[in-house]
Amino acid sequence: MAFELPALPYAKDALAPHISEETLDFHYGKHHNTYVVNLNKLVEGTENENKSLEDLIKASAGDASKAGVFNNAAQIWNHTFYWNCMKPNGGGKPSGKVLEMIEAAFGSYDKFREEFKNACVTQFGSGWGWLVLDGDKMAIMKTPNADLPMAHGKKALLTCDVWEHAYYIDFRNRRPDYVDTFLDHLVNWEWVESQL
Ligand code: FE2
Repeated sequence: MAFELPALPYAKDALAPHISEETLDFHYGKHHNTYVVNLNKLVEGTENENKSLEDLIKASAGDASKAGVFNNAAQIWNHTFYWNCMKPNGGGKPSGKVLEMIEAAFGSYDKFREEFKNACVTQFGSGWGWLVLDGDKMAIMKTPNADLPMAHGKKALLTCDVWEHAYYIDFRNRRPDYVDTFLDHLVNWEWVESQL
């Protein structure tokens, strides 16, 4: 069975004015979809055809001969996860268990915010900023290109796509402003809590 582009969890204009419908037209409709089309071409007629996305990612991580499968499979997973990490009228300081764990790991929400933003802004070139579970504690990480926490034994809780295609239409080169907007207006903390 072929891999499919999962539906967006909201309408394409739902994140405006922070992230525009035009960005989602390209980012979801073109970029995310292309990873699905490319992965299906790579696995068609092979033993990988009926594997889960997660199994494909774990089996191809760190193996240069399987870079095509890894990059496309991981980018499908990353983008689906990223869409779920946002919602209209999201962002700001979380509450409940998520806030407790953030304070235990980073000292305060403000310190978490600073560290998460720093990871996103300093990821050189294309990649992702993450809040992850490392064992039973929260931690920040950043990954280049398609790389993701799953390939490093960590569980993703929140991600911000810092490839230029995520923000160039709305923010041009201003990645720090895009990350501020993501944190202050878009994060879906209920999704983060559901991943714990
Ligand atoms: Fe992206």
